[in-house]
Amino acid sequence: MSILIKTSEEIKKMRIAGRLAAEVLEIIEPYVKPGITTNELDRICHDHIVNKQKAIPAPLNYHGFPKSICTSLNFQVCHGIPSEKKLKKGDIINIDITVIKDDYHGDTSKMFHVGEPTIKGTRVSNISHECLVKGIQLVKPGTRLGDIGEVIQKHAESNGFSVVREYCGHGIGRGFHEDPQVMHYGKAGTGVTLQEGMIFTIEPMINIGKRQVKILKDDWTVVTKDHSLSAQWEHTILVTPTGYDVLTLREGESI
Ligand code: MF3
Ligand code: CO
Ligand code: CO
Repeated sequence: MSILIKTSEEIKKMRIAGRLAAEVLEIIEPYVKPGITTNELDRICHDHIVNKQKAIPAPLNYHGFPKSICTSLNFQVCHGIPSEKKLKKGDIINIDITVIKDDYHGDTSKMFHVGEPTIKGTRVSNISHECLVKGIQLVKPGTRLGDIGEVIQKHAESNGFSVVREYCGHGIGRGFHEDPQVMHYGKAGTGVTLQEGMIFTIEPMINIGKRQVKILKDDWTVVTKDHSLSAQWEHTILVTPTGYDVLTLREGESI
């Protein structure tokens, strides 16, 4: 396992890529309304990334993924493929954006409510977001990845929810998925020790029901086995000398 420590030149490029990924989530927000298809959301994001940002949508053709963004709806956990399906009020949807700019990746996702937020949708989205924030707040040199996993797992499970274990956060840079793997469960005091200059994502997938998942016949879409609602939020985070810097913050967002 080799974790690449980023140089200041690389960090500069990662800041730009992170900012662009965040911007895509900002521009798509007004379109996430009942009646739009996830293909239309994909097209709007693709065009913005390619034509406005002069960047590359990293998912497109990544291990054969057919679209430019991931759209994961309701009981879909992650890697949902945009389609002709229309959003309807009461849906929750995760939109996951990864852009490549000047060879470096920025990766971020957030939940959206379609129409009026529902009680269950709000609960699972909020807890998943709190899990992300609690994980981020531990990031600094000397923290162990197990510290982050434990705080996320404890927050989810103490609220009666479960943590998906098959997918995790990841180092990111020139590579989309670099070392280390960032588990969203585990034991404090174990695992990799963080160092200044590491960059990785935290992206907890939290289910209302059981943690088990399966992959649909399209070979991509991950869904909860019990069809319970699932929510995920993701940021790309730099380890600084004293703590963290979130490279994918949206306008007006603070952690
Ligand atoms: N953006 C996802 C992540 O957070 C990965 C998507 S891979 C794809 O790691 F092929 F499904 F796009
Ligand atoms: Co990621
Ligand atoms: Co992502």
